Amino acid sequence: AASPPARGPLAGRRVVVSAGGTREPLDPVRYLGNRSSGKQGYALAAVAARRGAEVTLVSANAALTAPAGVTVVPVTTALELESAVQRAAEDADVVVMAAAVADFRPAHYADAKIKKTHDPADPDAAPTIELVRNPDILAGLVEARGEDASPVIVGFAAETGDEHGDVLNHGRAKLARKGCDLLVVNEVGVDKTFGHDDNTVHILRQGSSHVVDAGPASKEDVAAAVWDAVQQIL
Ligand code: CTP
Ligand code: CA
Repeated sequence: AASPPARGPLAGRRVVVSAGGTREPLDPVRYLGNRSSGKQGYALAAVAARRGAEVTLVSANAALTAPAGVTVVPVTTALELESAVQRAAEDADVVVMAAAVADFRPAHYADAKIKKTHDPADPDAAPTIELVRNPDILAGLVEARGEDASPVIVGFAAETGDEHGDVLNHGRAKLARKGCDLLVVNEVGVDKTFGHDDNTVHILRQGSSHVVDAGPASKEDVAAAVWDAVQQIL
């Protein structure tokens, strides 16, 4: 039987969420990865589904259960994530890039396991891994969309303050650089965010100096604040 029509503020909307962290293979048993758990992206997908959206969750290496009513597309690498997101974005109203995408990947993949070499002349020799840039998926989505500014595009940025500026300065510069509609900035540092259930974020909107602060709150509450901000744009 057909399911009843969706209800809620996102009813009739198609949304794409990327979640987790990409892995870039070095050889059949090794990869370069990151510490993203995927929890924030899964919470975003779950909240959107509860608000009535048709949700595609492009999930990179997250050991999490699919939220109810969400279509999951599993991926491993940044290049796989890029094609899955681009495909799903074609008829989407909103794309949220919550995944941690590796900026670089090994330039060469070794088909056989890399061995410790046993050169008697240099018994402690270690290889150097050459890296190449991965595409900036978010910037590519912004570039590819038409004059009608659809889909709404949301980026995430984990930032720390440093000698060049505080977390919000870095966030504003990144929002301008990426050209997306919203940038959700979360503060990271020792013991903050990775794998934890609570999160503090600042939601920045393109062309506005207004900042929405959310948290410390559960990742579900942060997700609700993000969709509230998206709904104001839709
Ligand atoms: N992102 C992406 N493709 C990449 C890298 C990042 O789509 N190759 C997206 C992330 O999913 C996130 C946003 O861009 O939504 C910001 O990611 P971040 O790593 O903070 O931005 P970078 O431009 O890579 O800057 P940084 O030098 O701070 O890593
Ligand atoms: Ca990056």
